Amino acid sequence: MMQKFSRRTDWDLEKTAYAAALERLHAGDGPVFDLTASNPTACGFQYDRAGILRDLARPECLEYGPNPRGLPVARTAVAEYYAEAASAHVSAEQIFLTASTSEAYSYLFRLHCDPGAEILIAQPSYPLFDFLADLDDVRLAPYPLFYDHGWHLDVAALTARITPQTRAVIVVHPNNPTGHFTSPSERTSLERICQEHGLALIVDEVFLDYALGPPDTHTSRHASFSSGEHRVLTYVLSGLSKVAGLPQMKAAWIAVFGPGPLLEAATARLEVIADTFLSMNAPVQHAMPYLLRDRQSIQQQVLLRVRENLATLDQLLARSPAVSRLQIQGGWYAVLRVPALISGDALAIRLMEQERVVVHPGHFYGFDGDGWIVLSLLPPTDEFAEGITRLIRSIP
Ligand SMILES: Cc1ncc(COP(=O)(O)O)c(C=O)c1O
Repeated sequence: MMQKFSRRTDWDLEKTAYAAALERLHAGDGPVFDLTASNPTACGFQYDRAGILRDLARPECLEYGPNPRGLPVARTAVAEYYAEAASAHVSAEQIFLTASTSEAYSYLFRLHCDPGAEILIAQPSYPLFDFLADLDDVRLAPYPLFYDHGWHLDVAALTARITPQTRAVIVVHPNNPTGHFTSPSERTSLERICQEHGLALIVDEVFLDYALGPPDTHTSRHASFSSGEHRVLTYVLSGLSKVAGLPQMKAAWIAVFGPGPLLEAATARLEVIADTFLSMNAPVQHAMPYLLRDRQSIQQQVLLRVRENLATLDQLLARSPAVSRLQIQGGWYAVLRVPALISGDALAIRLMEQERVVVHPGHFYGFDGDGWIVLSLLPPTDEFAEGITRLIRSIP
């Protein structure tokens, strides 16, 4: 008998031409200028190694105290993060810890969606959602963002995508890779639409602390969806991966907000989902108070790196009429506009083969058509500058 697999895992797993070129590049000799590098633990930042490791060896880590929402000591630390970073009053009872933001999304899809239900998601955006949606039998309905001196939400187009199957709207704030924050008026529109159509609002704020306005001023801060009034069921997602530059610790969270009875119903159901998995480990939860308090040091290093690389990028692009950069307000990524003479994949492969430079073509993130390149702003500054120099000389 033939072994049968679920239809939801019926993915095309053939190696793409892009993946094959990347493999050849790494297998060959010589330096690689990886302009997609975004793993903060591999980009040359100084971590407080002793401090990070200290609490992972606390005696309490040997005790198992299952709690579907996560240990109170860790949730209180998250609540304190919101008080400090967003001037938001969040109680530890509103917080659910998860192993990753991806797991947080999955909990929320299962909480709100029956098979075939739809979730609205911005395009372009982070490419993780396709697989998550497949795994939870959810359909993604993209709503367009448009660029006009900065990115904007097309409220009318979003509204037009709502069907009786729609259950929630996902907003990434600031968005990856467009680097734009949802404006206060866009937030108001989103909340009104969600209220009118009975939709939940899922807000991914993993990059909230990486605003790129003038440094050290309050103007560089953008309001979190955790603050202000909550007229609709709102889930704010974040985690140590970006907030503390520690993706290997596998700790994230959902903060739940909304009008009283709705909030109670959602948290009661979410508690059962979380209790079924109990995916948090004790050591990281006991370390979270320190890891969150210590976030400033890594955040400052990341912001410095991103600003330095952006300045280099702009300086080098000033000499290249063919390539331009789109405006960004926050996050770790930049989007370049290049002549759409060949497909995005063909251009990325050519850059690997001729210049040993790695970039992502825009279609990975849902950009329409060719002529878009997505870069990480995290690579070490020398590698970044050399990579951009090579990229520009290859696109005259
Ligand atoms: C917008 C966004 N959300 C979530 C994640 C993943 O976070 P986690 O490591 O907690 O799953 C990323 C990672 O790049 C991201 O860009």
